Amino acid sequence: MAKSSLIIICVFVFSVIFSSSSAFLVEDRNLKVSNFPSVHAKKLIRELNLFPKEEVNIIDGRDSPVLAATEKTIVEKRFKFPNLVESGGVSVEDLGHHAGYYKIANSHDARMFYFFFESRNSKKDPVVIWLTGGPGCSSELAMFYENGPFSIAKNLSLVWNEHGWDQASNLLYVDQPTGTGFSYSSDRRDIRHSEDGVSNDLYDFLQAFFKEHPQFAKNDFYITGESYAGHYIPAFASRVHRGNKAKEGIHINLKGFAIGNGLTDPAHQYKAYPDYALDMGLIKQSEHDRISKVIPLCETAIKLCGTDGTLSCMASYFVCNAIFSSIMAHAGDINYYDIRKKCEGSLCYDFSNMEKFLNQKPVRDAIGVGDLDFVSCSPTVYQAMLVDWMRNLEVGIPTLLEDGVKLLVYAGEYDLICNWLGNSRWVHAMEWSGQKEFVASPEVSFAVNGSDAGVHNAGHMVPMDQPKAALEMLRRWMQGSLAEEVPADSENLVAEM
Ligand SMILES: *[C@@H]1O[C@H](CO)[C@@H](O)[C@H](O)[C@H]1NC(C)=O
Ligand SMILES: *[C@@H]1O[C@H](CO)[C@@H](O)[C@H](O)[C@H]1NC(C)=O
Repeated sequence: MAKSSLIIICVFVFSVIFSSSSAFLVEDRNLKVSNFPSVHAKKLIRELNLFPKEEVNIIDGRDSPVLAATEKTIVEKRFKFPNLVESGGVSVEDLGHHAGYYKIANSHDARMFYFFFESRNSKKDPVVIWLTGGPGCSSELAMFYENGPFSIAKNLSLVWNEHGWDQASNLLYVDQPTGTGFSYSSDRRDIRHSEDGVSNDLYDFLQAFFKEHPQFAKNDFYITGESYAGHYIPAFASRVHRGNKAKEGIHINLKGFAIGNGLTDPAHQYKAYPDYALDMGLIKQSEHDRISKVIPLCETAIKLCGTDGTLSCMASYFVCNAIFSSIMAHAGDINYYDIRKKCEGSLCYDFSNMEKFLNQKPVRDAIGVGDLDFVSCSPTVYQAMLVDWMRNLEVGIPTLLEDGVKLLVYAGEYDLICNWLGNSRWVHAMEWSGQKEFVASPEVSFAVNGSDAGVHNAGHMVPMDQPKAALEMLRRWMQGSLAEEVPADSENLVAEM
């Protein structure tokens, strides 16, 4: 679920910030982070009620569950989940549900796991790929708790989700980077550390996927996701666009990319924390002013990190996260993914049913993952991507906009960690040919059937909190008319949900 991804991102930041005193920065010039964040990552994952048995899916000296004895790059099966309520006469063929592994081209031995759900509406619907964040969280979190075809009932049955995004799209969920969810390798060198690695793997997967499913290759294609996917999505969109321009492989009909409560432009977003916290009554003016004193240092650090720094990026991560931890120190036990809620005990959000569900033997048999451990959120993957965290991913977006690829940035208003204010600021500050017009355009409300009530009450995981509005948002955006009053050719719209 997107929720978990966003949650995880925020949670990790919070925990790491708390523990990173200035003494840590001064004393440890090598920034030996190897043990440090992983301890906190584990803590955070426990808070989410996720207990990965393994930290990362690295299989030593074992045969891979699938693909071992085949030359094919994609091994896929049609399946039907057991425990499906009201699946009466529906056959595996009718469902059009697939689970598969892609053997990552540029890897030593990595396999990327994915789910593909054909649209319940029309095979001609756009192909939409969803990426959960973390970094290191499985997209199955979004699939079961936000926008997938089913949700998990208390008794571990699956019930159809009326507002699943497969009502309007042919929907893909991938577990990535390597080591996340059911994706795995036998070689630690396959762990990714940057958006280059991430976006190349995703691009190579898409090529293989459309080769396997040529009937979908001409459909419109959209990239969506949440939280740390605010990094993945622009990088992946740029990679697809580059591949198209260079005629590298199958042309991918990229129409747009959507970022939900994402982390994309850290300079603007970290600066917005104290302002958002003050606006929402989490901190007082005097606290705001004191916490804001860190901002110039944080900005300088982010500038040094830029788009491809390394040590400087780690340094800025620790410097800037002091802002977030200070806010949390004042705000108390709120849930930073949804400040209306308290983060009580270990139950901020409880996604444990997903783990229980995916660990059932009949389910595993149905989707072909053998006895591979399911790693809902991998501390190892998270830690490996820390150097990527503070990099600015906004820089690649203007090129996409100029070439007519649409961008949607949306944010649940009660999310602190990737709040709407920071997102709104970077979108407004972005320099592109339509900037002036965009900034000058009036704010319009996003109404679903004449009422705009639906869109507001959401935290980090918008499709979980507002499933109907989120599906409607996706549908309208893909059709080019997010709000009725906005011209259909508008390339860049902000829906502040
Ligand atoms: C499990 O729960 C679902 C949804 O509440 C219900 O429809 C179904 O009948 C239940 N199944 C069993 C076996 O109790
Ligand atoms: C809006 O209302 C119409 C008529 O009542 C209904 O058919 C449609 O499904 C509604 N749309 C949404 C998104 O709820």
